[in-house]
Amino acid sequence: MKIAFVAPGKSKGGAFALAVFDGGRLSASAREADDATGGAIKRALDGGRFSGKKGQLLEILSPSGHPASRILLFGLGKEAELGDLDFERAGGGIYSRLAASGESDVTVAVDDLTEAKTATQSAAARIGLGVLLHSYRFDKYRTKEKPEKKPSLKSVAIAVQKAAAARKQFADLKLVADGVFITRDVVSEPANIIYPESFAAEAKKLAELGVKVTVLGEKEMRKLGMGALLGVGQGSKRESQLVLLEWSGAKSKKSAPIAIVGKGVTFDTGGISIKPAAGMEDMKWDMGGAGVVLGLMHALAARKAKANVIGVCGLVENMPSGNAQRPGDIVTSLSGQTVEVINTDAEGRLVLADALTHVQREYKPRAIVDLATLTGAIIISLGNVHAGLFSNNDELSERLTAAGKAVGEPIWRLPLGDDYDRLIDCDAADMKNVGGRGAGSITAAQFLQRYIEDDRPWAHLDIAGVTWSSKDKPTVPKGATAFGVRLLNQMVAQHYED
Ligand code: BES
Ligand code: MN
Ligand code: ZN
Repeated sequence: MKIAFVAPGKSKGGAFALAVFDGGRLSASAREADDATGGAIKRALDGGRFSGKKGQLLEILSPSGHPASRILLFGLGKEAELGDLDFERAGGGIYSRLAASGESDVTVAVDDLTEAKTATQSAAARIGLGVLLHSYRFDKYRTKEKPEKKPSLKSVAIAVQKAAAARKQFADLKLVADGVFITRDVVSEPANIIYPESFAAEAKKLAELGVKVTVLGEKEMRKLGMGALLGVGQGSKRESQLVLLEWSGAKSKKSAPIAIVGKGVTFDTGGISIKPAAGMEDMKWDMGGAGVVLGLMHALAARKAKANVIGVCGLVENMPSGNAQRPGDIVTSLSGQTVEVINTDAEGRLVLADALTHVQREYKPRAIVDLATLTGAIIISLGNVHAGLFSNNDELSERLTAAGKAVGEPIWRLPLGDDYDRLIDCDAADMKNVGGRGAGSITAAQFLQRYIEDDRPWAHLDIAGVTWSSKDKPTVPKGATAFGVRLLNQMVAQHYED
C-alpha cells in the first residue's frame, strides 16, 4: 500500500474521500464538491440515512462536474470530540470500503480542523496509519483467489496543508505499524512453519536493527535447570528455545531495563491432557505473547526508543507422545520451586515460570510485563474486547491501562490475593499447575506471581481473548491482531524513555 501526503487540490481523478460531521455538516472539501456537482452531495444526504455520524460511509458513483470516479463521504461525528483514534478508525473504514471496489487510487481530503483534539496534520497522519493497519493481509498461501476479490486499492493520497509535517509524523507511526505486521505475520503462520527454532530464526533478524539476540537451546536450559519449560516441550520433536532480545537505547546502557516476557507455545495440543478436536487449529496462535514481544522489539529498535528493554520469548511445542510429560509428573523449575503437573494443558504458566525467573536473575529489571494466551477462562470473563490485567503494582497497572486506552487496546484489571493463591497449594509439591474450576484466569496469574522475586513490579496480560479476531475491526482486519504491540510501545514511550 502506497500512502502519500500531498498538497490539497492536486488530484485529478480516482476516488475522493470527503469528511462530513455530525448533523450533515460538510467539511470544506465536501462543500466544494457539492458546489461543483450542482448539489449532488446534499441531495445524497437528504435521500438516505447518512448523517455524518462517526463510522458512517456513503458513496456517490461518477458524480458529474467533478473529476472523481466516485466520492466516498465519511462521517466523523462531532468535531470537538475527535481524537487520534477516531482518525485512525476513519482511515481504516475508508480503506475497507474501497479495498476491493475496483478503485486503485483514492485522495482523502483532510481540511483544517478547528475544534478537534487532534491537530490537522496529526489527523492526516492518523488517517494514514488507519489505512495502513487495515490494509494488512496474510495471503501468502492463497494461490487461487479470484482477481475480483483481490484488493484493487494500491495508493492513498492524503491531501492536507503542510503535508510535510503530516508525512514526518506518519513515518514515525509506520515504524510501529511495521512491528504490528511482523507480529501478525508470525502469529498467522501455521505451526508447521513457525515452531520454536524457526521463530528464533525470525528473532535473529532483529540483530540488523541493533538488537542483541541470544538463543538458548535445550542443552543450555537443562544446564540452567529450567525443568518447568523443558517438561512442556519434551513430548515434541521440535527443540524448545528461549529467545532473549536486548534493546539498549537509553543514555545509560546500564540503567535497569523493563522486561517484556511472552508465552510462545507454537502449538498447544494440550499434551496428554489433550484438547478436543473442534477448534484445535486455533492453538497455532498460542504463541501470540511471544509474537507481540518480537513485533514490539522491532518497533522499539526501528524508532530508536531511548529506553533499555529486554524481550523474552519462551518457545515450546506442547505435544502428546511417548516422551510427553504425564499428569502427576513433578518438575523442578529454575527458581527451585517444584510443581505437580495436574493438567498438561496448563502449560503456558510452566513456560513463563522459567522465563520469568531467568529474566529477573540475568537483568534485574525495574518492571516486568508478561503477555500470554493463558486461559480460556479470560474469554468467559472479558470476551474478545478487553485483555485481562493482573498485577502486584498499582502504578504499573495504571500506566498499562492508560496506554491501552490511548491506542485502542483496552485491558481490565482483575484481582489477585492470598485466598486465590491457596487454591494452587499442593500436597505432593510446592504447588500444582491448576486450581479448581473457579477463577481460572486468576489462579493462573497467582501461579506466575509465585515466580516474581522481591515484589518486583510485575503485570500479567492474559491476551487469550484478543490475540485473534474473527471479525474485521476498523484498524484490525480479522485474523491476528498483534494486540499488545501498540500498547507496550505507547507505555515505553510515555514512561520509560530518557
Ligand atoms: N492456550 C490455552 C488457553 C487458550 C484457550 C488460549 C483458548 C486461547 C484460546 C492454555 O494453554 C490452556 O489450555 N489453558 C487451559 C487451562 C486449564 C487446563 C486450567 C484452559 O484455559 O482451559
Ligand atoms: Mn494449554
Ligand atoms: Zn496454551
